[in-house]
Amino acid sequence: MNPTTAPPTATPTGEDHQVQLRVNGTPHTIRVPAHTALLDALRDSCGLTGSKQCCAVGECGACTVSVDGRTVNSCLVLAVEVDGSDVITAEGLAPSGELNHVQQAFLDHGAVQCGFCIPGMVVSAQAIIERNPDPDIEDIRNGLSGNLCRCAGYNRMFAAVLDAAERTRRQCGTGAGGCSGAAAPAVAAAEAAEQPAHGDLDDDLDKHPSSASRTAAAEGGPVRS
Ligand code: FES
Ligand code: FES
Repeated sequence: MNPTTAPPTATPTGEDHQVQLRVNGTPHTIRVPAHTALLDALRDSCGLTGSKQCCAVGECGACTVSVDGRTVNSCLVLAVEVDGSDVITAEGLAPSGELNHVQQAFLDHGAVQCGFCIPGMVVSAQAIIERNPDPDIEDIRNGLSGNLCRCAGYNRMFAAVLDAAERTRRQCGTGAGGCSGAAAPAVAAAEAAEQPAHGDLDDDLDKHPSSASRTAAAEGGPVRS
């Protein structure tokens, strides 16, 4: 070895690093190797297995979480990169065990098939509504464009997000900042009673004929095949 060669500065693979995260409002201090993906840290160190690994290369969005208010593919982000951040996973949308409006609307519209994509879908859908409390169908298609569903239930998902936005506006108003959109049990039960669990999408949309964007949801195809 050349004695003038500078010592390596990179942290040796395998050396654990302390990372502090606030996940769904709960502080976590974990120790992980530098190469650990945030997804693995959440699942293996924080015990939050809602976020799924499907492709592990940033293509499918099944691992989507919110980091400091921005959605990311957690399979592509290192845990050490987000040290000190606030992270919201699908579990964090229902902190008290009551489904929030997005989650409830996905159920009510029959938008869940195998379910593998759903944790990422609902995190992305929640972000759409937080950015824009009154999104149109294009906002929703764009906002979910990074989330793939192999069961291809996109139309029902689009309708669910439109409905969740409407429910959130009713609860929180259009200035939804600071409003979790968590459905109060009585409200959720009443809304669930109004919605068929697995009704035909056209039937669902016909219940709201005043919304032209719902018709667009029925006509729109998958964002990506
Ligand atoms: S598992 Fe992260 S994008 Fe597919
Ligand atoms: S519901 Fe099966 S992958 Fe989306």
